[in-house]
Amino acid sequence: MRYPSGAMDFESPLADMPAEEFRKAGHEIVDWIADYLAEPRKRPIMTSIVPGQLVDQLPAQAPEQGEPFADIFRDFQELIVPASTLWNHPHFFNFFSVSTSGPGILAESLIATLNMNGMIWKSSPAVTELEQVTLSWLRQWVGLPDSFFGMIHDTASLATMHAILAARTMADGGVRTDGASPGMVLYTSEQAHSSVEKGALALGIGQKFVRKIGLDSAYRMRPDLLREAIAADKAAGLRPFCVVATVGTTATTAVDPVAEIADICEAENLWLHVDGAYGGHAGLVPEYRHYLAGCERAHSFVVNPHKWLFTPIDLSAFYTRRPEVLRQALSLVPSYLQSAENPRAVNYMDYSVALGRRFRALKLWFVMRYFGHERIVGIVRHHIEMAQELARRIAADERFELAAPVPLSLVCFRLKGPDEATRRLLDRVDADRHAFLGQTVLDGRLVIRLAIGNIHTTEQDLDETWALIQRCAE
Ligand SMILES: Cc1ncc(COP(=O)(O)O)c(C=O)c1O
Repeated sequence: MRYPSGAMDFESPLADMPAEEFRKAGHEIVDWIADYLAEPRKRPIMTSIVPGQLVDQLPAQAPEQGEPFADIFRDFQELIVPASTLWNHPHFFNFFSVSTSGPGILAESLIATLNMNGMIWKSSPAVTELEQVTLSWLRQWVGLPDSFFGMIHDTASLATMHAILAARTMADGGVRTDGASPGMVLYTSEQAHSSVEKGALALGIGQKFVRKIGLDSAYRMRPDLLREAIAADKAAGLRPFCVVATVGTTATTAVDPVAEIADICEAENLWLHVDGAYGGHAGLVPEYRHYLAGCERAHSFVVNPHKWLFTPIDLSAFYTRRPEVLRQALSLVPSYLQSAENPRAVNYMDYSVALGRRFRALKLWFVMRYFGHERIVGIVRHHIEMAQELARRIAADERFELAAPVPLSLVCFRLKGPDEATRRLLDRVDADRHAFLGQTVLDGRLVIRLAIGNIHTTEQDLDETWALIQRCAE
């Protein structure tokens, strides 16, 4: 039977794409991807489109009849790609410069093919058990102890929200039945990622109960101020319950003194969560592992392989020493999700708000196996070395100044003099469309952020980008 409109040659009006058509289209797509990866610098990293342009180029209604695959793929190439900022470009230095990789891309297509949902062990044992295995491998790579239970979230924001939820449950088990009462206080630093405060907002903690502790000259949380804030809150009858420290802050990659903060948390019986979304990867490289000192004493820890482990977004690895507290907070098993009890059959839904779970572990497994520890360590180390070299060059150019220490692979700098000059420089680099730099504000001053983390970025890319920055500064 043929599809009546004649627009498409479906074998049956009720069937999926025919296997042979899939094979042909699949080969075309793989060829396109391989070409893209072979020459990642071919396209401008930034688009020149204006807001609304893509919307205006696309039909306002979805098609009534199916369209040929070739038309869809052509529009992807001619309309969608030109409207994109190319995150996988070697000159992407904004935010945290994340990149995917060949094995990660291939694994994503297998994940979609199997399309499994790991709500409970029985809904697909492979989803659960590969997640256990890969997170255990990653835990060993970053140097966390065996006592940490691992699970995957989509983002660090959601992982941190779960940590705060567990912290509150540890402090007050009655929240589950009676709801939260005001007056429970969370502490983080002035440089913590906004996801910490958002997690607190989502859980109804209230902004006036989120303390942002002041910093030392290297933008790290000051433990003495943390201690004072806790004491003041206790004296005021409030209930401190959680501290979130950061290894690798977003603005400057500052590393909070986690061991000293852990001392305070242990003395005060507070949950300590460490946000290592980006900086947690420092644990991979022996000479930088010291940045994670004290993390082994945290109650929970998050690191995002989609930031610096060449795994396609989204994959955030969450670890906790107290999974039973999360379970106490969240386990709820309706009859349609009941399954036989077996201590080896982990049901991840018991530990998270989300029920459905993509097979994300597969892409991390592909990436870790394909590259292996040695090569991953080499790439991450190289990124840090390139950042240090760029920092040396910036410091040697009398027009520029470094705006913060460079512990990892992010360089913060600016032009000496008024912010206006730095703003103009950033605008010129943007207009050139050969590199994508970031910005932040430190001590009230505009600062350029250049983050290195893309697997394709080489010294030559940095030479060219530094030359571009120097030209734009003239
Ligand atoms: C230190 C830090 N924590 C958390 C996040 C949030 O990550 P996600 O987008 O996975 O929620 C970021 C994002 O850049 C970050 O830099």
